[in-house]
Amino acid sequence: MNRLTSAACLAALALATGPAAAQDPNLGRNLAATCANCHGTDGRAVPAAGMPPLAGQPKESIVQRFREYRAGTRPATVMHQIAKGYTDAQLELIAAHLAAQK
Ligand code: HEC
Repeated sequence: MNRLTSAACLAALALATGPAAAQDPNLGRNLAATCANCHGTDGRAVPAAGMPPLAGQPKESIVQRFREYRAGTRPATVMHQIAKGYTDAQLELIAAHLAAQK
C-alpha cells in the first residue's frame, strides 16, 4: 500500500469510527436492539418464551456474564457465539442501556 492510499484509509477509518459515533446518545439503545430478537425490546423478554430478561439487571452482572460467554467459561447454546461480535466499549453501552430499563 502506498503512502497516499494508507493516508486515505486512515481518514476513512477516522470518519467511520470518530467522535460522532461515540457521542450518539442513542448508541446504547441501538446496539441493544441487536439483542431484541431473543431478549425482547429493551431486554423485556416475552414471559412465556423462557428467555432470561435483561431489563433492569445490574450493569456489572450483564457485563460479567457476557464476558464469560465470550471467554467460553459460561455454558451457552448461542451466547458464546454472539458475545464474540461485540467490543468491550459496545458491551458497556449495551449493558448500561439494559440496566437503565424498568
Ligand atoms: C439468538 C438469540 C440471542 C441473541 C440475539 C442474544 N441472546 Fe443473550 N441469550 C440467549 C440465550 C439462549 C441465552 C441463555 C444462554 C445460552 O443458551 O446461550 C442468553 C443469555 C444471555 C445472558 C445471561 C442472562 C442470565 O440471566 O443469565 C446475557 C447477559 C445475555 N444473553 C446478553 C445478551 C446481549 C447483551 C445480547 C445482544 C448483544 C444478546 N444477549 C443477544 C440468546 C440470545
